Amino acid sequence: MSQPATQLSAERLVHAPSAGDEWWRRSVIYQVYPRSFRDTTGDGMGDLPGITRELHHIASLGVDAVWLSPFCRSPQKDAGYDVSDYCDVDPMFGTLDDFDDLVAEARRHDLKIIVDLVPNHCSDAHPLFQAALAAAPGSPERELFHFRDGRGPDGNEPPNNWQSHFGGPAWTRTTDDDGAPGQWYLHLFDSSQPDFNWDSDAVRAEFERILRFWLDRGAGGFRVDVAHALIKEPGLPDWGGRPDGRSTEGFPFSDAPMFGRAAVHDVFRSWRQLVEEYDGDRILCGEANAHPVETMADWVRSDEMHQTFNFDYLGAAWGAASFRGVVERSLAAFDAVGAPTTWVLSNHDITRHSTRFGLGMTGRVNEGGKISDLVVDEDLGLRRARAASLFTLALPGGVYLYQGEELGLPDFLDLPDEFRQDPTFFRTRGERVGRDGCRVPLPWVAGAPGLGFSTLPGSSEHDDAAPTSNAWLPQPRHWDRYARDVQAGDPDSTLELYRRALAARAERGLGLGDLAWLETRPDGTTDVAAYRNGRTVVVLNSGDEPADLPAGSILLESTPGAIDADGRLVPDAAAWLDVEH
Ligand code: NOJ
Repeated sequence: MSQPATQLSAERLVHAPSAGDEWWRRSVIYQVYPRSFRDTTGDGMGDLPGITRELHHIASLGVDAVWLSPFCRSPQKDAGYDVSDYCDVDPMFGTLDDFDDLVAEARRHDLKIIVDLVPNHCSDAHPLFQAALAAAPGSPERELFHFRDGRGPDGNEPPNNWQSHFGGPAWTRTTDDDGAPGQWYLHLFDSSQPDFNWDSDAVRAEFERILRFWLDRGAGGFRVDVAHALIKEPGLPDWGGRPDGRSTEGFPFSDAPMFGRAAVHDVFRSWRQLVEEYDGDRILCGEANAHPVETMADWVRSDEMHQTFNFDYLGAAWGAASFRGVVERSLAAFDAVGAPTTWVLSNHDITRHSTRFGLGMTGRVNEGGKISDLVVDEDLGLRRARAASLFTLALPGGVYLYQGEELGLPDFLDLPDEFRQDPTFFRTRGERVGRDGCRVPLPWVAGAPGLGFSTLPGSSEHDDAAPTSNAWLPQPRHWDRYARDVQAGDPDSTLELYRRALAARAERGLGLGDLAWLETRPDGTTDVAAYRNGRTVVVLNSGDEPADLPAGSILLESTPGAIDADGRLVPDAAAWLDVEH
């Protein structure tokens, strides 16, 4: 028995067309993870010239901008999110000249380059932190960070109960020059990532200098790391959360004394003014991991950032009801402040959506889960991922794509432990596997050594059981099937599906459009979600039975055969239709 017919007549408008038409209200931004995009030197590590060289592939998708994960000088303890010089390129990625070449090439393709800025913390190798370590307690140098005396008889206990997001205490004790134990410093992430003290005017001035440095070099704006955590509650109070007295790990928002303090918004208000001094409609996009989504919208009030990543959407379980719920809440929350919602399905911190949706479970699965112990149906995951992507790409607002999702890449779940690099893996002694599985170098050429990721022939190989590639993370052997060269030109491929959907999104002006739900079942528990944006209707079927489609001509289907001989949408599929309006 099929699902009841989708009724075009029973519409409920939940989002009016966008008020403004600035590019960032409807943008599609492609995230490049430089380590894993393209290696032109054969050292197994992606680099900026590799991005420049292959930029035409990104441009051909029809995106507006490229966000580069960190490429600044860094000891790479957290894959570049531990910066030791904010105004230079790490030699492993190239030089400042290479950055300039990339910006110039991007201009030729009408693409903007968004720089990843990491203001919450730096590397412990940063000269300012080294100077703070060398200086005395209470010195101006230490004021730039959060240094405190320990608690307990000999100061042996951390100053408060906060936990690092990567596991273990958020404090590390220093050693004084004479070898005696000294003060402690705060790090919400790895011990190699000391948190800046954003109550310090000197820290604010330093970051204004850094913003200008990249804007002057042609950056189209910034993705702002950990934009919810810069300001800490004065006095750094304990935060209850667990019966053992330790604070909760991870990103629960609520009343946490290190997240979403009111004063953090002043920082971004001043940055908004700063970027507006420059021409070209440059943007700030916050990684404001704030819950619920209504709270997140505070970061995009009209005088603050332009965009935030929608983490509720990123964390949504597979299924029509789940997606529909998040879309509705998100549009209401962001409309209330006049900002676009951004839709994100994958990034470098979370299990790729084609793996998440192929797991025999629902709910949020991120780097914290031991997902390698779970059963994944890779084909089912890919089918659902394509359906979810199609459902997403017609939504009004902005879209973020993570490199490789246009190829349908899954995570490398069986990555052998000896290759793991994520500090989470080490700080939890392997209890949490970390995020390496979604960061594996891209497959460019099927059958080529290293799947064509590195330039030098024979410089890397791939093997599921015992990878011998020189790529910084090995690629699974069966990734031949996902290689870009195999997919290019194949009308059934994931790559061509993305191209067609992104072209139709642009042609139909969907990013600036409206959204009305089509009623599919009165009780609201349907496994079918259907919405109209202008003349485009999108239907997603996450149920077990085929679903009827409204009248209209089919524009796109998520997989070949998504529409059966009776004209119904099969399970785990999505379709776009053109309808009379
Ligand atoms: C968020 C980044 O996306 C993640 O990769 C990083 O580990 C943390 N912030 C710390 O900078």
